[in-house]
Amino acid sequence: MADIRLEGVGHSYDGGRTWALKPLTWTWRDGRAYALLGPSGCGKTTLLNIISGLLSPTVGRIWFGEREVTSVPTAGRNIAQVFQFPVLYEEMSVYDNLAFPLRNRRYPKAEVDQRVRTVSRLLGLDDQLGRRSRRLDPGRQQIVSLGRGLVRPEVAAVLLDEPLTVIDPALKWTLRSKLKEIHRDTGHTLVYVTHDQTEALTFADEVVVLKDGEIVQSGTPAELFLSPAHEFVGHFIGSPGMNVLPAETADGLVMVGEAVVGRAVGELPPGPVNVGVRPEFVRITAHDPPGLQARITGVDRMGAYHLVHAEAGGHELVAKVDADSAYSPGTTAFFHFADAAFLFRDEVRCGSIAPLEGRREA
Ligand SMILES: Nc1ncnc2c1ncn2[C@@H]1O[C@H](COP(=O)(O)OP(=O)(O)OP(=O)(O)O)[C@@H](O)[C@H]1O
Ligand SMILES: [Mg+2]
Repeated sequence: MADIRLEGVGHSYDGGRTWALKPLTWTWRDGRAYALLGPSGCGKTTLLNIISGLLSPTVGRIWFGEREVTSVPTAGRNIAQVFQFPVLYEEMSVYDNLAFPLRNRRYPKAEVDQRVRTVSRLLGLDDQLGRRSRRLDPGRQQIVSLGRGLVRPEVAAVLLDEPLTVIDPALKWTLRSKLKEIHRDTGHTLVYVTHDQTEALTFADEVVVLKDGEIVQSGTPAELFLSPAHEFVGHFIGSPGMNVLPAETADGLVMVGEAVVGRAVGELPPGPVNVGVRPEFVRITAHDPPGLQARITGVDRMGAYHLVHAEAGGHELVAKVDADSAYSPGTTAFFHFADAAFLFRDEVRCGSIAPLEGRREA
């Protein structure tokens, strides 16, 4: 097993007029568990199918370690792929379905049995092994499909395309943790496609965020949360997502409307930028300029915390604050963004915001 390297790989379904996947260079490191996260239509399945060979990229080359596989068909790539909906032999028993990928590659009988039983135990299929697959409900059939993808010990990678869509929500969480367990056991490279941030963050060592056919950032869940490199990552990850406010930089200061909200850090020519700050890092004080004065429009009491909604210069702003705080709609307060606040230009991070010198701490 080895790294999977994409070199300038891109795909167009319409002869180059639009790119479902813009040419990118990227390495999937051997043995890591990745989530490929992005909204519908951003190119996740396209990228996965290019790795497995179901789709031949319009441009670029693909390497599995030292071996170039760009023109190698799926069967020669040794990839296990699990799709959104069950793919299995309905007339075969669950046991035979799980055993099929191994028998097909002439594994010794004892090893087939041992692998099938390990996977079946982990996925909770032990009491189903003798049943005909056609008789299972769609959720169970999908778990068998998942098992078929995980049963082979020697694959170059396991690619999972929204594999838990048809699974009951209560069972999803269990299956995800089983998947992690199997990953620890086999050490396969896993790429798990999802458009659900919770699924991505709870599953992966590394989350790769795809937008409009482009990887906009990759990192650990903490990195994506604490240090978004693209406005989209700020919106898509986090609940609620990052606040974005139009601003200007001048003389090293960041201005939102007339308010100075901090010092600009980074090489920034004067001009428009966006300030991005997650609700978790907005602090509110009653009377403490500098800071952005905003009118509180509503408070959501969430039990463990409050979400304070506010409006400043026609822009909405949310702060996540302690549940024992008492802010009232209709009042004004000062909103401070000196921690983990960033500057974005054309959606891409170009700097950050530091506290003003000598600023009074709230
Ligand atoms: N066979 C095809 N022919 C033409 N266009 C396609 C084809 N498959 C996908 N596309 C287009 O390519 C883009 C990327 O599609 P893709 O299926 O890779 O997205 P996705 O991220 O997997 O979306 P979803 O979350 O809905 O599965 C979309 O604009 C889609 O409409
Ligand atoms: Mg898809």
